Amino acid sequence: MDALILSVESSCDETGIAVVQGGRTILSNVVASQTALHAPTGGIVPEVAARAHLRWIVPVLDQALADAGVRVDDVDAVAVTYGPGLAGSLLVGLNFAKTLAWMHDKPLVGVNHLEGHLYAAWLHDGGRGDGPEPEFPLVALIVSGGHTFLVEMSDHLTYRLLGQTVDDAAGEAFDKVGRLLGLPYPGGPAISRAAEVAARHDAAFPRAWLGDTYDFSFSGLKTAARRTIDEARAAAGLPTGPAAEREPAARLSEAATAELAWGFQDSVVDVLVTKTIRAAEETGARSIVLGGGVAANTMLRARLAGEADALGVPLIVPRPALCTDNGAMIGAAGARRFAAGERADLSLDARPSLPLARPSATPARSGAR
Ligand code: KG4
Ligand code: ZN
Repeated sequence: MDALILSVESSCDETGIAVVQGGRTILSNVVASQTALHAPTGGIVPEVAARAHLRWIVPVLDQALADAGVRVDDVDAVAVTYGPGLAGSLLVGLNFAKTLAWMHDKPLVGVNHLEGHLYAAWLHDGGRGDGPEPEFPLVALIVSGGHTFLVEMSDHLTYRLLGQTVDDAAGEAFDKVGRLLGLPYPGGPAISRAAEVAARHDAAFPRAWLGDTYDFSFSGLKTAARRTIDEARAAAGLPTGPAAEREPAARLSEAATAELAWGFQDSVVDVLVTKTIRAAEETGARSIVLGGGVAANTMLRARLAGEADALGVPLIVPRPALCTDNGAMIGAAGARRFAAGERADLSLDARPSLPLARPSATPARSGAR
């Protein structure tokens, strides 16, 4: 587990390349974010994202190598995200990584993006104050723009899916409600910031508990948010309905926006935290891991930390920049797959809908379908 891994992530709208040692120590982690590029359209245009990856991937590699003080010839393997994600975006990173591996005669390791979000919990920056390593069995909540699920890990690379969203991902709901409130893209960080200044905490949004399952649902909450926001807009004499979304100038007051942002966030966080803690309790978890872009959310981090503490189970949450998409998390997961002897060949293809938990009991080869 001491391998030096060069890792490439391009599944969505961040071009990330990192150099990671031993699956834990970050030597460099460079991310070129396309957030500003997608802000005018209020969402990701896949074609635009793929072209931006092409534009940035070489400079990002150069910077990652320079920051780490290594050459491609020094690394033990090249790890790359091959799914899930946007096909065009995945193909850029995948072909780039294959070319590097082939040119420098290095092994290639395929990594599942979701596994990367999980393994971010093992990363540290080599400095003081780094947290403890997660202990098995553990329960992990992964919440991102495309995925929301709870998984149990009894050992490295061994997953049992406990539950997942039956409709929208939590991040998707944040982005949608952010748009409804006229907040800038992406909605997650904007809602989090808006909610911080809420003076009143009595805006109530529904919670979808889905019985005692570990599944999640956010589409009803989105509809409820639309209705509540429309009511608040009508009461303030502002236009409502789809036209209102396109008129950010006629926004609700900062105080009203803050209160609604808080209420929506409270509902999402309440369900996520309650189910995660129950899963940890019922499975006898020895640690809880939180990951994915929404794990950058301050309220989610604080509430889960409080409840995990009350349960007496350590919570491991990467710092916010390691929760959102980055190359280092792919290096962390790639190191584990590399140590397990997994090697992909140049036929490794992009898998836009790759699931985390593979159906077979034995770990599949990275290139297997
Ligand atoms: O993991 P990620 O970077 O990309 C995907 O794999 O989807 O997650 C992006 C998602 C977006 O929906 C974004 O709004 C959300 O994470 N997000 C947040 C915060 N920061 C990012 N959601 C809530 N609070 C935040 N602070
Ligand atoms: Zn992600």
